[in-house]
Amino acid sequence: SNVSVYHHAGRLLSLGEVGLPYEISTTDLSTIGVHDFGGRITGNVTAHPKIDPATGYLHFFGYEFAEPFLMYYVADASGALVHAEGVGVGASTMIHDFAITDRDVVFWEMPVLFDLELAVQMVSEPASDVMPFVWTPSYGSRIGIMPLGGPASEIRWVEIDNCYVFHGVNAFRDGDDVVIDVCRLAKVFDGSSLGPPPALHRWRVNTAGASLTFADEVLSDRPADLPNIDRRHVGREYRHSWRVEVTDSPDTVDLLGVVHYDARTGREQRWDPGAGRGSGEWLFVPRGDGEGDGFLLSYVYDAATDRSELVVLDAQDVRAGPLATVPLPQRVPYGFHAAFVV
Ligand SMILES: [Fe+2]
Repeated sequence: SNVSVYHHAGRLLSLGEVGLPYEISTTDLSTIGVHDFGGRITGNVTAHPKIDPATGYLHFFGYEFAEPFLMYYVADASGALVHAEGVGVGASTMIHDFAITDRDVVFWEMPVLFDLELAVQMVSEPASDVMPFVWTPSYGSRIGIMPLGGPASEIRWVEIDNCYVFHGVNAFRDGDDVVIDVCRLAKVFDGSSLGPPPALHRWRVNTAGASLTFADEVLSDRPADLPNIDRRHVGREYRHSWRVEVTDSPDTVDLLGVVHYDARTGREQRWDPGAGRGSGEWLFVPRGDGEGDGFLLSYVYDAATDRSELVVLDAQDVRAGPLATVPLPQRVPYGFHAAFVV
């Protein structure tokens, strides 16, 4: 469970997308054990659950390798599972993230299909370095909109051009439109390359008619991913988001610094930690009540010294550079997602 950590209902959960969460101690980070919501979940749990800021409910899902392929779950503010149901999809596709609004659940299903033979090879021949997912354009890509809390029988889908999205930034209602901001890749896992870098897109799905309609707008083509927002605005109209700038290197993706996107002005500001230095995800930590009033935290690794430091930026003024840096006694390996627990 190495993808993310999430704090909900007093529990700190380590999440890995495939498999169940592990609960870890908030005092010493020791492993408490598998958390299966009282035995009610036996399948996979996404590393990107969403907490509805109005209710404290945890909305999440898991994609499965057998029917029903996609499960939707809700836990109440005490952490008790109150809803679990299958969502009708046609195959086992890799779904890394989803979104909620104040009244909708948003899934995006894209043509990265689970391959059992490759999975067997991955386990039996670890050196083969294969992933059990295959880019399968004929499967198509689609967005599903269903009522928050279910039922999944009311989900409606709209077909879109093939692409892949690991991470949504946020989603919200604008009248009959569901607005979904995402870090969009043209393709992934196609065996030839890592593919073109992710760009920030704004999707609009109009729900007024008998069929959903879809519109796609590029907000920023600056290559960046691992988005963060002020999570007090999950599912609500929002202004600020922060992504990690990325650049291609021969066989991997190098992480640079942070890009702050202001949805009101369309402007971006960036901070680059400098040559040979790269950051992980930038985690927003609130200071005041206003959206985006707070700090950004990330570990910055310096290849020349093989050391890491914790860097603190003003979320509203990333260009100004660090407000504080905390040297660390050893390197912190690059990871995916973080949590700040008070
Ligand atoms: Fe992720």
